[in-house]
Amino acid sequence: MNEEKEYLRIKEAACFIKERTGDFVPEILAVLGSGLGSYAQSENVRKVCEIEYSEIPGMPKSTVKGHAGKFVFGYVEGKSVMFMQGRVHLYEGYSPLDAVLPIRIARVLGATKLILTNAAGGVNTSFEPGDFMLITDHISCFVTSSLNGENIEELGTRFPDMSEVYSLRMQETAEKICNNLGINLKKGVYIQLPGPQYETPAEIRMIRTLGADAVGMSTVIEAIAARHAGMEICAVSCITNMATGISAQKLSHEEVQVIANKSEKNFKRIMTELAKSM
Ligand code: HPA
Repeated sequence: MNEEKEYLRIKEAACFIKERTGDFVPEILAVLGSGLGSYAQSENVRKVCEIEYSEIPGMPKSTVKGHAGKFVFGYVEGKSVMFMQGRVHLYEGYSPLDAVLPIRIARVLGATKLILTNAAGGVNTSFEPGDFMLITDHISCFVTSSLNGENIEELGTRFPDMSEVYSLRMQETAEKICNNLGINLKKGVYIQLPGPQYETPAEIRMIRTLGADAVGMSTVIEAIAARHAGMEICAVSCITNMATGISAQKLSHEEVQVIANKSEKNFKRIMTELAKSM
């Protein structure tokens, strides 16, 4: 797909959404990861409108259990937020361009801030299931870049800087928020692997050696597309399990969802404060 066609796809989807949302301009896009999606439907959000991905021209559908597959538009503490209840993963067979389309649509709609959340496996052995990890940096080299192909000049430059993908200002804010809430926020480097299979013990040893603290199958390509388009990013992982080989337990998507759901109360508190202070 060439650059102009892709930008057209983004603009057409944004136009379709605008017709439904009227004069609602999102300041923040918040991507809700596995088991964390219910936030968009919670009492914390004064909902204005929701749109299923399947209604939007050009939008890929989310096919994963526990991912609803819709945008929710609403206000959190006065801030206008566009939520992704369910994201698009590479392992569903979608291209990196498809996977970051929602990020780019939100940017075109006006969002300049991005909150990314995900469920992740703990690679750092000092972590425990149920912990939250603030993403301070990432490793992207195992997945194709979402900027692959002709550059979309309207969004950003060909060779974007990645020295501060995760805003230091937002990192400090997230730390303060968690301190005030009495939540022990871990910090670390997130690595995106292609999935959908969980990792082998050898792969986990490899990525620990490379400097990863948590592993998952999303987020990094979204962060890259967002930085390309000049968005300010804050990202938090919910550590739902220890990565393969650390605990004797076998991994399952159900377990990931159960722990993510258990962390929901603290997650909601962090999310509300983050939106408020972004
Ligand atoms: N590996 C990859 N992705 C994940 C994991 C994991 O252990 N847990 C939640 N998402």
